[in-house]
Amino acid sequence: MKPAHTTGQQNQELKINIGVVGGTGAEGVGLAVRFAAAGHNVFIGSRSEDRAIVAADEATAALEVATSVGSISGGLNSAACEMGEVIILSVPYAGQSDTLEAIRPQLAGKIVVNVIAPLRFSKGEAFAAPPAEGSAAEEAAKLCPEARWVAGFHTLPAGELKNPNTSFEADALICGDDAEAKSVILELADQMTGLRGMDAGRLSSARYLEGATALLINMNKLHRTHFSVRITGI
Ligand SMILES: NC(=O)c1ccc[n+]([C@@H]2O[C@H](COP(=O)([O-])OP(=O)(O)OC[C@H]3O[C@@H](n4cnc5c(N)ncnc54)[C@H](OP(=O)(O)O)[C@@H]3O)[C@@H](O)[C@H]2O)c1
Repeated sequence: MKPAHTTGQQNQELKINIGVVGGTGAEGVGLAVRFAAAGHNVFIGSRSEDRAIVAADEATAALEVATSVGSISGGLNSAACEMGEVIILSVPYAGQSDTLEAIRPQLAGKIVVNVIAPLRFSKGEAFAAPPAEGSAAEEAAKLCPEARWVAGFHTLPAGELKNPNTSFEADALICGDDAEAKSVILELADQMTGLRGMDAGRLSSARYLEGATALLINMNKLHRTHFSVRITGI
């Protein structure tokens, strides 16, 4: 893994084994498809081996339209953590602490990307519902300080991720306190079609990325579309 990242530049040699914990949901499957379309090997994790295999088959089928691909397989979350050099944590916020308790020993020293957005819904409207630490990402880092935490990918619509040829012309906003870990994830984002990895600062910025998810959900509903975010002026 190479640490240096320059915004918008791709390092085609970066090939990583990626484990997705909670990978059977729309976000996990979408990210799995995009990572595999960029040539990485992905393992979709679940609490159920059967559900993971179904999700891995779905993701593999979605990959058929891509040209150069890595593999997608599935199994238990613990197996995803074993296989992954990089781990994506993609469970609902309600499951974050129990999930981390179960896999914590396996995360030591690994880059872990938290994509969780803690939200609550009232009368059809989404609201940010951050924990006391300020964000799910900061809470996770406190629960498992042995991991190299990064947070990001919140502002991309999961449904659009699943088609590897859809060009977003959007930014994946990535934050974290471990510069090398963040650089690796920024490069992974750059490798996705039409996507640019954008450094969003320290892990404390995760509260704004998580909160922006509520904004985008509400705007999507208002405008009947699937928004993502692009930073200009850089
Ligand atoms: N969807 C989006 O567009 C989007 C955008 C930004 C951020 N996010 C965030 O990304 C994460 C995943 O989103 P999603 O839509 O894929 O979520 P999801 O479908 O609700 O959950 C993902 C997977 O997590 C597992 N899971 C569910 N409840 C759990 C619990 N209590 N404990 C442990 N595992 C549990 C399930 O897998 P198994 O039952 O197979 O274990 C489920 O398939 C969420 O935190 C969400 O806030 C999503």
